[in-house]
Amino acid sequence: INIILLGPPGAGKGTQARKLVEERGMVQLSTGDMLRAAKDSGTEMGNKVAEVMARGELVTDEIVIGLIREKLAEGGKGFIFDGFPRTLGQADALGELLNETGQVLDAVIEMRVDDEALVRRITGRFTCGNCGEVYHDETKPTAKPGVCDVCGSTDLKRRADDNEESLRTRLLEYYKKTSPLIGYYYAKGNLTPVNGLAEIDEVSRQIAEALG
Ligand code: AP5
Ligand code: ZN
Repeated sequence: INIILLGPPGAGKGTQARKLVEERGMVQLSTGDMLRAAKDSGTEMGNKVAEVMARGELVTDEIVIGLIREKLAEGGKGFIFDGFPRTLGQADALGELLNETGQVLDAVIEMRVDDEALVRRITGRFTCGNCGEVYHDETKPTAKPGVCDVCGSTDLKRRADDNEESLRTRLLEYYKKTSPLIGYYYAKGNLTPVNGLAEIDEVSRQIAEALG
């Protein structure tokens, strides 16, 4: 099955995507992770988008659609689109790409949270630079301070766009350009809302229920 995790920054898309990968062997396609990887490996595209991302603005449709097209061509046992699509143009492009490869979109999970919770989540977030595990100072700390529970790495880091000013821009971008997708997919009949404010395992349970 192929699903989209739709929701504002900090809604828990990455956290839930990683659990689905573990539990169902699905493939996570996070355009945010792909763009950060491009930046870390110093590609021309990565350098070009780094500043845009740090400010919290969206990068162009052309770039992210190109990234997704490559990954879809590799195939896999069901995709989780995490942070993509983010504009109506991207949503149309995804529909076409799936069509071309003979695939369907099974569900769009809308993760509902309020802005106040997002600020707390984003400002407390850190991730493992080695395995990508996502943590939070209060809700999901590491068992041993400074050491990743999953892989033992001490390379724990915070994102350049996880500050209040960039977050404000990311939220505005979300409301202006991404939230129209809620109506878009509702009209297509495959939107399922879940309560993103619940505990991590409860959100997973709601997603599992939606996927059947
Ligand atoms: P991207 O990397 O996609 O970031 P985002 O959408 O802002 O989402 P986040 O990764 O911040 O949040 P999340 O929902 O994954 O939450 P998480 O699980 O980490 O995009 C970054 C940038 O890249 C964009 O601004 C843009 O510039 C560019 N970009 C990417 N895709 C693009 C596209 N398609 N088009 C154009 N530009 C694009 O959780 C957050 C925190 O909360 C963590 O600390 C976690 O531990 C905690 N948490 C999670 N769930 C819970 C819970 N249920 N209860 C308590 N705490 C929780
Ligand atoms: Zn790790």
